[in-house]
Amino acid sequence: MNPDRAITFDPAENSPMDCQFMLSQLVVPRPIAMVSTRSPEGIANIAPMSYYLPVTGDPMLVAITMGLREDGGLKHTYRNAMALGDFVINVTTEEFRDQIEVVAIEGPAESDEFELTGWTPVPATKVSSPAIGEALARLECEVRQVVDLGTPGVPFGEVHLVVAEVVWVTYDEQILNERGRIDPLRLGAIGRLGLRSFLRTVEEGTYFLPRVPWAEFVAARNGGDQEGGADGGGNDGDGGDT
Ligand SMILES: Cc1cc2nc3c(=O)[nH]c(=O)nc-3n(C[C@H](O)[C@H](O)[C@H](O)COP(=O)(O)O)c2cc1C
Repeated sequence: MNPDRAITFDPAENSPMDCQFMLSQLVVPRPIAMVSTRSPEGIANIAPMSYYLPVTGDPMLVAITMGLREDGGLKHTYRNAMALGDFVINVTTEEFRDQIEVVAIEGPAESDEFELTGWTPVPATKVSSPAIGEALARLECEVRQVVDLGTPGVPFGEVHLVVAEVVWVTYDEQILNERGRIDPLRLGAIGRLGLRSFLRTVEEGTYFLPRVPWAEFVAARNGGDQEGGADGGGNDGDGGDT
């Protein structure tokens, strides 16, 4: 960054909305969990959530922050997940691409987003929430912990960080490569960029970097004529770390 062009942003001098918009534009690209739930009254609900992260593998945990609706109420997704204790994360891929903003419309609790989108509700294997039949991959989740964060009652402030255990995973074999591993291009996940912009996983935008063991890395840096230090234990380049 050229220091002469540097623009600064002090959270203390900005509104909660501007602070959140800054996060939304600079913490990018984000994965989008297409979260499907069901209300105690039996109404199915779908909402995209991109304040979403993988947490750990044992137990297999994910976390999503669910904020307030524009009317100040709780998101239906949050209410449903609290009431029934589970939800399904359908991985957002090309299949959902044109309707992400449709399911983000904050409609009344009686509106069933499966009807709005034409997506097909299918039963999940381990949880009571419905899954989306068109999803190429889905994670069935049970709520384990909720951390209330942000300023209560303030839009863009109050959020509920929902930590959930993934109790079942289902994916379509069409997303596998010849070695039986999930191929990012075949999955075709859609990411969120700042505000209304999205990102497609396409070949010209993706690239591969090999992971080399420390000794090999040092040897290559030194022109291959010196021994490196302890072996960092590299891998084949497409797995093994976060
Ligand atoms: C791509 C995208 C990502 C979003 N991520 C989140 C999020 O992580 N948390 C959240 O509370 N709302 C998020 N929203 C807004 C909700 O999807 C929206 O408020 C939705 O209508 C909530 O529906 P519900 O009240 O039926 O749960 C996002 C919207 C979009 C378009």
